[in-house]
Amino acid sequence: MVEIDPNKLEPGRTSVDHGLTARIKRSDPWRSAFRHAQIDTPRGRALQSFSNVFLHVYPVKIPKRVLNLRYSLRLGFIAAVLFGILLVTGIYLMFVYTPSVGSAYGDMQNLKTGVGFGQLIRNVHRWSAHLMVLVVALHLVRVFYAGAYKKPREFNWVIGVMLLLITLGFSFTGYLLPWDQLAYWAVTVGTNLVHYVPLVGGRLQDLLIGGPQVGQNTLLRFYALHVAVLPMLLALMLTVHIWRVRKDGFAVERTSVGTFSEAATERPAGAAPAAESMALAAPELYGGRVRLLGVVDRESITEAARPVDDTVFTWPHLLVRHVVVALGTAAVVLGLAVLFSAPLRGLANPNLTPEPAKAPWYFAGLQELLSRFDPLVAGILLPGGAVLVLLLLPYIDRNPDTRASHRKVAIALFSLLLAIAVILTVIGTFFRGPGWQFIAPWTHSYIEF
Ligand code: HEM
Repeated sequence: MVEIDPNKLEPGRTSVDHGLTARIKRSDPWRSAFRHAQIDTPRGRALQSFSNVFLHVYPVKIPKRVLNLRYSLRLGFIAAVLFGILLVTGIYLMFVYTPSVGSAYGDMQNLKTGVGFGQLIRNVHRWSAHLMVLVVALHLVRVFYAGAYKKPREFNWVIGVMLLLITLGFSFTGYLLPWDQLAYWAVTVGTNLVHYVPLVGGRLQDLLIGGPQVGQNTLLRFYALHVAVLPMLLALMLTVHIWRVRKDGFAVERTSVGTFSEAATERPAGAAPAAESMALAAPELYGGRVRLLGVVDRESITEAARPVDDTVFTWPHLLVRHVVVALGTAAVVLGLAVLFSAPLRGLANPNLTPEPAKAPWYFAGLQELLSRFDPLVAGILLPGGAVLVLLLLPYIDRNPDTRASHRKVAIALFSLLLAIAVILTVIGTFFRGPGWQFIAPWTHSYIEF
């Protein structure tokens, strides 16, 4: 690879460092790891991004409106941070946990007294998992209402739905690992549902639990899924997802004929921002954005028709915000972990069904449905249909307009389904007690986390 000397690109400008720091940064060992010098010019910063694998995840420049919290509510980023926390704490827990029915429960008890920060780490892991389900679901809802699943982001929406399913898979497989009554019975209820899948249900259930009932084989399979298969799948999908966010560009509001954004109001009459002038010229090609494909000499850019620049550098503007959000997320998780401990009921007992045998809150809506309809309908057809509609949504909804006032039908239908899902979840979580009887949550609480 030909190494570009950034100093030559920007005559007269050198590294921002002085003295010893500058000498270290000019040394061979340093330059073998960091190929660029840190130069405080637009080109220097661009080069820095191009040659750094972490910075390269981000575009060099982003439209100003992306800095606005309202743009994405940072939900996708928060989900990624939670995944990072789950990985780190999960690895710690792996050091002290054996997926065996003889020792798993004891390992959980041992976390309290025999492992440094064991219980705290378990709490952080558990709370991050709950929050991740919530945040990923909210992210989906945000993307829907913003119409950000429309061209050219259809495929990224599909990847997103898969990420949601994987996230739920993580929670479901992780739930069994403590091997307590809560774990055993929630997973027994869940895996029994698989039986109702038409044609292959029995085989699928056998494959999942590895025997006539939840036992050692199930624990081992769930463990392998939880610590190896699902993390790899999620990491792979997430890489594609974030790559596509980068390539598809940040969504702008779009009418049926073109794109526009808030920045349009700040610009001098007649001058279009860079992204939008190209996007307006060929919306199908650019989807409301432009890409920075390379660094070129200043002379090669035609000055005459240069549009008003509505972009800012990702570093520091967006990155600083991301660091703040990441720290905030970590603080919330830590706060919850200190205040509320992860539950551990009695040792799993296949002969003693707890009352009520409740699923965690994110499956409580499904359990509520199951109490009302045939298992095939409530456990397979309705959730399966919902997932299928979600996956196909960008291809069913062909309306290119993203403005709420021009998507009344889609928004009304989605809001109705969302309201039903939320109501079922609230009823299942707070208003159900022994025998799945209706109870007032202020008299007795049977919430399972
Ligand atoms: C593990 C779960 C997920 C992670 C970590 C994740 C991460 C991200 C990140 C970091 C972004 C960039 C902007 C933002 O923060 O919104 C993003 C955008 C996006 N996500 Fe996700 N996401 C996940 C799940 C989903 C789901 C469930 C969907 C929808 C079904 C989805 C659809 C999208 C789309 C379409 C965009 C582009 C939106 C835009 O440009 O405004 N993602 N995601």
